[in-house]
Amino acid sequence: MLFSPLTLGEIEIPNRLVMAPLTRLRSGVEGVPGPLVAEHYRQRASLGLIVSEGTYPTPAGQSYPGQPGLVTEEQIAGWKKVTDAVHAEGGRIFAQVMHGGRVSHSDITGGHEIVAPSAVAIDGEVRTPNGKKPYPVPRELSTDELPSVIQEIVTASRNAVEAGFDGVELHSANGYLLHEFLAPNTNVRTDSYGGSPENRARFVIETVNAVGEALGANRVGIRISPEHSVQGIAETDPPMSAPPMKSWWTPSPRSTSPTSASSTMIPRVSSSRTCVSASTAPSSSTPASA
Ligand SMILES: Cc1cc2nc3c(=O)[nH]c(=O)nc-3n(C[C@H](O)[C@H](O)[C@H](O)COP(=O)(O)O)c2cc1C
Repeated sequence: MLFSPLTLGEIEIPNRLVMAPLTRLRSGVEGVPGPLVAEHYRQRASLGLIVSEGTYPTPAGQSYPGQPGLVTEEQIAGWKKVTDAVHAEGGRIFAQVMHGGRVSHSDITGGHEIVAPSAVAIDGEVRTPNGKKPYPVPRELSTDELPSVIQEIVTASRNAVEAGFDGVELHSANGYLLHEFLAPNTNVRTDSYGGSPENRARFVIETVNAVGEALGANRVGIRISPEHSVQGIAETDPPMSAPPMKSWWTPSPRSTSPTSASSTMIPRVSSSRTCVSASTAPSSSTPASA
């Protein structure tokens, strides 16, 4: 089974071994992947699919010194050499697009302000080029500026395609910006992007939809890590606290009508649109669009 082919959206993968995204921090101050990065991925091209290390879509979204970006012409050109090397070996590679949100420091972002869903800092220290420092209190993104953050992620995703990637994976896990919107302790907003689990999922779903529209949903994935309390995230929603499933999920006529869902909501991309399903969905039912 592991070594049998699989269709993943638009691409065929020859085996089911997928390399998880692994940050290596080898792209220097300018965030440009060089020959060492190309060789790293080229060596792994026999895997069914590679998902790249997290790459920042905007300088404010950089979480680590040496992390690569998908913003500048030089970064795109650097990634083109990486994807060419992987493709020359017969491999496939997706870019992981990762806005770090509050997991950063202005010493890392080149002075760019640290932003997040809410002004809640991580309790602890961050390793910067100038030594360890306390995590800063991020500035809360205003409702009006959320579309521009989504646009940055869309542009970086387009840049990934220009750089030769076969698709993108949006990083909505492990405590970074998208995950910060999902979690109740990092998202204490009072607008329509905060409060209920449905509201907290809104920014993530809008982002996936926007990138899916720009690239075609068949080459867009998303990584989530429900209840993974890392980097100060605390997903404390009690079970069964999600809104009634019927508000965003239409059961098929054959199913028994569900009235509630687990608090674990899983945004995912289907062939042409973003769907929202729940881990408690009856197996006889077909999720419909959100
Ligand atoms: C050094 C290192 C770098 C990582 N970088 C990323 C990353 O850029 N993006 C991401 O989604 N996960 C990243 N992860 C998480 C891994 O993809 C993976 O989920 C984690 O190591 C757990 O793997 P396991 O379930 O096989 O134990 C990283 C993990 C490690 C150890």
